[in-house]
Amino acid sequence: MKKWILVLFAMLPSLAMAAGANVPLDKANNDLTDQESLQNGAKLFMNYCFGCHSAQYQRYERVARDIGIPVELMKENLIFDPNAKIGDLMENAMPEKQAAQWFGGPAPDLTLVARVRGTDWLYTYLRSFYEDPSRPFGVNNVVFPSVGMPHVLEELQGIPTPVMGTKVVDGEEVEVVVGIETDGSGELNSEEYDQAVLDLVNFLEYSGDPVKLERHTLGWWVMGFLVIFTIVVVLLKKEYWRDVH
Ligand code: HEC
Repeated sequence: MKKWILVLFAMLPSLAMAAGANVPLDKANNDLTDQESLQNGAKLFMNYCFGCHSAQYQRYERVARDIGIPVELMKENLIFDPNAKIGDLMENAMPEKQAAQWFGGPAPDLTLVARVRGTDWLYTYLRSFYEDPSRPFGVNNVVFPSVGMPHVLEELQGIPTPVMGTKVVDGEEVEVVVGIETDGSGELNSEEYDQAVLDLVNFLEYSGDPVKLERHTLGWWVMGFLVIFTIVVVLLKKEYWRDVH
């Protein structure tokens, strides 16, 4: 019994490796106040992700309003489901059972993914797919080993191949994928691709906490109010105490 517990503990670090926990992440530094970036992110999301992933805690109309897309434009260009109405939740029609068959598991809803995974993780993940013929879709991912999702942005990025390096695991040097390299066949060059992914991540962060946009502006009003209020209180105090001294 004791022995088994020891074996389990000995396995822990390798389990953590399997989840990709110790891959260094690139900083997203996305800007939630950049409306153009949010709009481009929404466009990319609807075109490249919404086929498999829903954003079912969001409504089309709210998204359009929050990030400044006119309702008509949203309806014409970003709502692909002919039965969906502008006030509907952003659900999609992929049945979970089918997804399990095609991809080995359902494509999770992405409304809150930026809160769960963090923006740096998302930014790194979407830039870390690489060719791996041993996988069902021919790709693997540096931060999400054995991922079930195909590299849906390949036409933008080009074909990414792995860059190998060595890492010391339990005192032993092992060969691992440390990064990727693209062949330049994508529609975007590498800076443009990074920017596109950043816009997408920006949109996903907004999506996970839509009130954040309002909260930031509200915060400035509150600070302004407090400053003015303090001045009034100081003046009042002076007025009240004038006769006492
Ligand atoms: C062809 C279907 C498909 C498309 C299109 C797709 N995904 Fe996925 N995605 C999946 C599947 C399936 C998984 C689950 C992978 C797994 O668990 O191995 C997944 C997983 C993810 C995850 C990890 C979720 C988590 O926390 O485990 C993220 C993030 C993600 N996708 C983002 C995106 C984004 C962003 C796009 C658009 C650029 C996109 N996906 C397009 C099928 C898809």
